[in-house]
Amino acid sequence: MDKVIRPTKRINAKITVPGDKSISHRAVMFGSIAKGTTEITGFLTGDDCMSTISCFKKMGIDIQVDGERVTVHGKGLHGLNAPDGLLDVGNSGTTIRLISGLLAGQKFACRLNGDASIQKRPMNRVIKPLSLMGANIKSTNDGYAPLEITGTPLKAIEYKMPVASAQVKSAILLASLYAHGDTVVIEDMPSRDHTEIMLNFFGADIKNENGRITSHPVAELYGKNITVPADISSAAFFVAAGLLTPDSEITITNVGINKTRTGIIDAFLEMGADIKTVNERLAGGEPVGDLIVKTSKLKAITLGGDIIPRMIDEIPVFVVAALAAEGTTVIKDAQELKVKESNRIATMIEELGKMGAKITETEDGMIIEGGQKLHGAVTYSHLDHRVAMSVAVAALNAQGETTITDADCVGISFPNFYELLESIIN
Ligand code: S3P
Repeated sequence: MDKVIRPTKRINAKITVPGDKSISHRAVMFGSIAKGTTEITGFLTGDDCMSTISCFKKMGIDIQVDGERVTVHGKGLHGLNAPDGLLDVGNSGTTIRLISGLLAGQKFACRLNGDASIQKRPMNRVIKPLSLMGANIKSTNDGYAPLEITGTPLKAIEYKMPVASAQVKSAILLASLYAHGDTVVIEDMPSRDHTEIMLNFFGADIKNENGRITSHPVAELYGKNITVPADISSAAFFVAAGLLTPDSEITITNVGINKTRTGIIDAFLEMGADIKTVNERLAGGEPVGDLIVKTSKLKAITLGGDIIPRMIDEIPVFVVAALAAEGTTVIKDAQELKVKESNRIATMIEELGKMGAKITETEDGMIIEGGQKLHGAVTYSHLDHRVAMSVAVAALNAQGETTITDADCVGISFPNFYELLESIIN
């Protein structure tokens, strides 16, 4: 599908965005290996989370989906069955990496694969620590999917993370549930901690002492009710739209504001953005609030260090905001962008370049000339949901109309993105 986005004059709206992708995946996974029923509300029904559901259904878990309400009939830590055939993770890096850790300690063998993008995303980052735990896991494609895993008893390890990655950390923590002894993961830079929070909520014993995360195996996990907050990664597109569009104000309700995820808000505030977080509360151990965003004159900043993992998925839309800011923005320490659903340094430079943006690629990020007026163009999503949505936000304030080809990939994380956008622009 092609999508045409026309410039807008102003936006004044109060909206909600779909549920958090990371938390939705985890609720299904952990619910499946917990004893009893897990009721999930606010579940993200995007393609990635549906891939997770289909993998667990294939392993014998009864899961009912009724819109954003999902019921998982968990069978306990040792209740999964050998799947009949391949587990297909689709486009989802979170699914393949997290369930690799979970499958390493089962009593059966299985094979995992996904789409063309998944087959280009590095899997050695999970193969290495899981192998140290004694797992029998191998790639049949030189470090990429397909993966073959034959479940085996695991041993505890102490592992220092070479890159900040919640997916790798979570794979190790899931394997640790099946390991003999206490597993320790050491993080220099904190990555999102939804696994630690939710596993503990289900009865696990995981402690984080200044980046030293210790998991002590427990006999069982127990099903719980999970309320998924709105995804800050999805809210970020509307935050940027509100900041960049003249005379605008957007309120986004019920957004997850876990500190390991709010780098994008901190970065925008440093640029001079008018964003207020109100009505802060806790839901299922996760902090939630409403964001009120007003049109702002932004100035350039230098982005690097430990804010990067706290906003890794929001960097594409941050680039769009930096193009409108006064001055030159530098993004450093962001090599991880190269191994996302697309190489997001290359794809963002290419697509925004078609709209007239001047961005220079560096080894670990980019240099963005601010104060640029963009023009409409025919662009390509590269089948990357966040590239498509970032280009759509850029298009709102460009001159002339922009076409995004293969635009329907937004269904991965934000199925109603275009409908919601079109309902608030004029
Ligand atoms: C995720 C972790 C991040 C993020 C991804 C979701 C998760 O990936 O980019 O969209 O749910 O754990 P990395 O762990 O590779 O940084």
